[in-house]
Amino acid sequence: MYRQQILDHYKNPRNYGELDEKTYTHAGENPMCGDEIAIDVKLDDDEETIERVAFRGDGCAISQASASMLSKELRGMSVEEMQEMDRDDVIDMLGVDISPMRVKCAVLAEKVVQDGADIYEGEKELDKTTTEDDE
Ligand code: FES
Ligand code: FES
Repeated sequence: MYRQQILDHYKNPRNYGELDEKTYTHAGENPMCGDEIAIDVKLDDDEETIERVAFRGDGCAISQASASMLSKELRGMSVEEMQEMDRDDVIDMLGVDISPMRVKCAVLAEKVVQDGADIYEGEKELDKTTTEDDE
């Protein structure tokens, strides 16, 4: 049944494509195979909650299903919660045993979304330090 879910997300990926309005975009690859995923994230006005996520790219069933499931899972989640997700959370979400060889496939989307948030936060900090000086 769980395998079914992976195949379903692989064949009918949810939120595949681009967001018209996005807060940040980031892409990353699985160094083991070179497969790449790009993810768009739209945050709410306070930039604390994830409103929408879209992804595109190529990869194996596990990486694509993981990105598709994650795009649903992240909706409504706080940025903080998203940043706290780890490998085990992703594997739980997938609902299957992942062999060590395939862990990088499973966590690719999670890593891209988190790295993108880090970079975005970093840029915001940089803007702050160049525009105001009270901290
Ligand atoms: Fe993904 Fe080997 S790198 S299956
Ligand atoms: Fe490339 Fe899985 S084999 S992401």
